[in-house]
Amino acid sequence: MKYKNFYIENYGCQMNISDSDIITSILLNHGFILSENLDKANIILLNACSIREKAELTLKKRLEQLKFLKKKKKIWIGIIGCFSKEITKFFWNKKMVDFFIPPDSYREIPNFIYYSIMGMQYLSYTKKKNETYADISFVKTKQNNKKITSFLSITRGCNNMCTFCIVPFTRGRERSSDPDSIIKECKHLYQNGYKEVTLLGQNVDSYLWIEEKNIVDFSKLLDLLAKEIPMMRIRFSTSNPHDMSNKVLEVISKHKNICKHIHLPVQSGSNKILKLMNRKYTREEYLFLVKKIQSIIPECSISHDIMTGFCNENEQDHQDTINLMNEIKYNYGYMFSYSPRPGTYAYRKLKDNVPKHIKKKRLQEIIDLQRKHSFYRMQEHLGRVEEVLIEGESKKNNQYWYGRNTQNLIVVFPKKFLNIGDYAHVKIKDTTSATLIGELFI
Ligand code: 5AD
Ligand code: SF4
Repeated sequence: MKYKNFYIENYGCQMNISDSDIITSILLNHGFILSENLDKANIILLNACSIREKAELTLKKRLEQLKFLKKKKKIWIGIIGCFSKEITKFFWNKKMVDFFIPPDSYREIPNFIYYSIMGMQYLSYTKKKNETYADISFVKTKQNNKKITSFLSITRGCNNMCTFCIVPFTRGRERSSDPDSIIKECKHLYQNGYKEVTLLGQNVDSYLWIEEKNIVDFSKLLDLLAKEIPMMRIRFSTSNPHDMSNKVLEVISKHKNICKHIHLPVQSGSNKILKLMNRKYTREEYLFLVKKIQSIIPECSISHDIMTGFCNENEQDHQDTINLMNEIKYNYGYMFSYSPRPGTYAYRKLKDNVPKHIKKKRLQEIIDLQRKHSFYRMQEHLGRVEEVLIEGESKKNNQYWYGRNTQNLIVVFPKKFLNIGDYAHVKIKDTTSATLIGELFI
């Protein structure tokens, strides 16, 4: 085949990055060639994200740029991953995109490419509810040659139906991968030079595999992995507060190679808003869970997702969120202002009635507050000696290594002799709100 160089651009979360690895493996196995840059490619895949309006606008802008490239040379463009129906309609009518492939149809990508080269515009509606891609093994390419950390999806889809969220519509119902395939893949990654794996799922704590009398839940999966690959660092994301069990916390505290960090999106500190969001926990239950984490795993860092300006959020609800943040003092977090997503319950049934400027003001307030809390939490590390897995050179200073400690906090320190993939013991001497700065402790 003449046209077989592909290039993937990512527009989403860690799950999309992991999906790009799956797609790369599928295409390499079908004789396609991964291009190092866009200019050399004939097939351009945009791994889309629709979670917020902003992500879709970015995708639209990118396609406007690619339109010019399409006029200059023969290229085929595919939108893959989490795209909404609106995006499909918009680009289908403009005839700018050659094919659309949702997350459960990646195995069809080679066919879609052939069809579009033959001049057809194609859209897959296939919904393979059990697809986990468990049999598809990661392929080491030139591009990821130096990487020592990897993502691995253990569940796909989501059953939670939070009223604001498009994910259950774009990624479908939740399903878990076979634990044997997960262990096998983690071993494969380790043998290929990877030192850390992040297990991914929209809601990893609801991981469940049942086969005859063998039941593997998330705590058991973590325990199995930690024992089978003791030299591999294990992380996971995301935890839904509603599903996190004591057993999981105990397993995390028991194994040194399971990292002490939990990403625990709260979304809001107001019970009224949590209910409107269909988040299935109350502020009090969430705070109780945080206390439990802190008592079972005292060194655990906790991060969050918070959304401002959801439907009917008033100043008191916003203050409830601020108070909750003050009570917990998270290590870090991701903050957004609400944007209605077509098709969701909130879009259909609730009013997006918080004015834009108020959403923006509230968002800025929580961002500023989080920066203070992050700085406060970073101070706790001063003077400690911490184990850091070296991931690369610091972007700001190539005389420094960059890595992360068990709490998923970034640590930089002068290089001396170690290498990428080594563990360093670093004494923390200084901090900003985002970075720990230290020196090798020998
Ligand atoms: N608007 C803004 N933020 C959203 N998120 C999910 N849906 C929306 C939306 N419609 C945020 C949530 C979620 C994170 C991944 O993205 O905080 O936890
Ligand atoms: Fe969306 Fe809620 Fe599922 Fe997270 S848990 S992916 S916010 S529906």
